[in-house]
Amino acid sequence: MPTPFTAQKSQALTGNIVVPGDKSISHRALIFGGLATGVTRVRGLLESEDVVNTARAMSAMGAPIEQRDGHWEVRGVGVGGLVQPSHPLDFGNSGTGARLMLGVIAGHGLTTTLIGDASLSRRPMGRVLDPLRQMGLQVKDSRETLPLEITGTMQLVPITYALPVPSAQVKSAVLIAGLHAPGATSVIETERTRDHTERMLRFFGADIDVTPEDGATRVTVAGDAELCGRDLTVPGDPSSAAFLAAAAAIVEGSDITIRGVLVNPTRTGFFQTLREMGADIGFENEREECGEPIADIRVRSSNLKGVTVPADRAPSMIDEYPILAVVAAFATGRTVMHGLAELKVKESDRLAATLAGLTANGVTAAAAGDTLTVDGSGHVRGGGRVKTNLDHRIAMAFLTLGLAAERPIVVDDGEIIATSFPQFVPLMREIGAELDVEGGSER
Ligand code: S3P
Repeated sequence: MPTPFTAQKSQALTGNIVVPGDKSISHRALIFGGLATGVTRVRGLLESEDVVNTARAMSAMGAPIEQRDGHWEVRGVGVGGLVQPSHPLDFGNSGTGARLMLGVIAGHGLTTTLIGDASLSRRPMGRVLDPLRQMGLQVKDSRETLPLEITGTMQLVPITYALPVPSAQVKSAVLIAGLHAPGATSVIETERTRDHTERMLRFFGADIDVTPEDGATRVTVAGDAELCGRDLTVPGDPSSAAFLAAAAAIVEGSDITIRGVLVNPTRTGFFQTLREMGADIGFENEREECGEPIADIRVRSSNLKGVTVPADRAPSMIDEYPILAVVAAFATGRTVMHGLAELKVKESDRLAATLAGLTANGVTAAAAGDTLTVDGSGHVRGGGRVKTNLDHRIAMAFLTLGLAAERPIVVDDGEIIATSFPQFVPLMREIGAELDVEGGSER
């Protein structure tokens, strides 16, 4: 039975905290570590259900991943060295885990089945299977959703693939498969999506080239690649930090600092938008770690105003629209968010779920096509019960809304938060947020 969580109006939030490791980078660290020769040690790994499922899948295919003192250790088998698992690979709620691993399995002569929860089993896999089929992956019964029985090959064909949707997962799956193919595999993207695969493959020793081409970007990986085990530290997840930053922006008198957050420009659209709304946000102590820029983010509450968010910003804040919509409810005036097509195929239809959650709590909002409009009035009634639909970010966004609303807000399933941010409740409480887990269990 899912456990409902409740959030209520809180006093000023204060504190100096660290958020757990970035989800995208954590998945990739485990996968590339497994495909490298030698040992990879990962510090700051996100220990969430999604990432643990990727670790289990790599271990089941012969690249053991174990928790040691203060780090995770991956014993790599080299590109092409994985073996057939003895059971289906369960990716739980994670689109990233499933899609990236499709790229890995494509390059191995093995047959396996990928499964996931009800949310993941509804999500489109054709976008990854199409290019991987061109490279040589076989998919039983031409299926396009999980469960998927697939057979990879040691004789993949390199391709050049123009992304039909702006998706880092699709780009990454093709590039990962390309590591196994002879010759060069390229992905062309018209909108720049998160570039952790490119940065981390380079860090592991792969030959990666990123070149502008006719207003787009061509990313090329050299095949028959050799990756070398590395030691790396995962920076804090900006998509998790976004909930804390939003809470501080909307709860009067707040002043928090979130240390060591990834500020890669392909991920910072939310913070840029908050600044445009008049939020008091500073990136302090900017530095670099393992090829990624990081900073301490200080947020103080302030008066916010509605803004228009252009469609071309969507890839750099795709996971942050639900929480941006929550912030917009406390701004004065209208916030218009364009280009939200991809929001409909996340862990839930986040456009519909965000709209429903706002409306249930007395916020005036509307969705038309790929655009969401929120009419902020500076305060929110609250008092609603929000359906999370197996979507961790919907749960966290509406609990955050409850911290500044007049009446408490209940989300029907708080447990799902553990897929990406198991420390959400304790960290929020640490800065002073009033969150309750129904049934009284502490998380
Ligand atoms: C991710 C890419 C994005 C994002 C997801 C993580 C990644 O998905 O929503 O949370 O790690 O590559 P899409 O590639 O589907 O946009």
